[in-house]
Amino acid sequence: MKVEIVENKNLASIKVASLLHQQILKKKNSTIGLATGNTMVGVYDAFKVLVKEHKTDLSNVQFFMLDEYWEISIDHPASFKSYLLNALAGLNISPSQFHFHRTDLKEEEATEHYNKSIEAAGGIDLQLLGIGLNGHIGFNEPQTPFSQTTHVIELTESTILANAKDFMGANPTHAITMGIKNIMDAKSIVLLALGESKAEIMKRALQGSIDIDCPASILQKHKNLDVVLDQLAASKMAPRSAVESRV
Ligand code: F6R
Repeated sequence: MKVEIVENKNLASIKVASLLHQQILKKKNSTIGLATGNTMVGVYDAFKVLVKEHKTDLSNVQFFMLDEYWEISIDHPASFKSYLLNALAGLNISPSQFHFHRTDLKEEEATEHYNKSIEAAGGIDLQLLGIGLNGHIGFNEPQTPFSQTTHVIELTESTILANAKDFMGANPTHAITMGIKNIMDAKSIVLLALGESKAEIMKRALQGSIDIDCPASILQKHKNLDVVLDQLAASKMAPRSAVESRV
């Protein structure tokens, strides 16, 4: 695991965008797992700048969505699909390069379809991740078995509340998400956490015991994990590992 602590949230977002950009320069036909949420907004902005500056060819890249709300239309303005198309607008990515969750199918078909699409693409080369206040990654809430692949999950109260502002009352209570097994199978993972609110859970995830009470704790076992934190998100980490990798 490599942990980089960067001065502020803008620099942290630029760092993650440049890891993503380097992956695509290294392998033109990369498969990228994309996360959404507030944390990722600055990453996609910085990524767009890099792609434009370097005139990077994205035409062979495939993008996989980490998760999606289950019981709203995928074209709802607050869906993760809408978020992402908006976040990456202007990059000339063809719709066929995106793999969105099939929320129009029955649960079993939708989850099988997604697992098979990832497999057919040869797996995920780089998975971007944020982290929930309860340690969720994707929508793998606490107590989700580490062995699970794509599945539909009931969201916890805290996650429903955290997302409520986007839905004006009609809050979705379920989501479809890549499972922890899909995430851990990614060849590389980049986890980004920003701000003081994430400090406690980052300490728990990276320096606590590995157990399903904190889904992100399993990432400690990944062979190719980059963690990028701003100083606030790193503020509760035990000094030894924080200082070793401070940049
Ligand atoms: C989003 C996702 C979630 C978020 C997490 C943090 O695709 O999978 O796990 O990464 O809820 O959300 P923010 O960044 O809004 O704090």
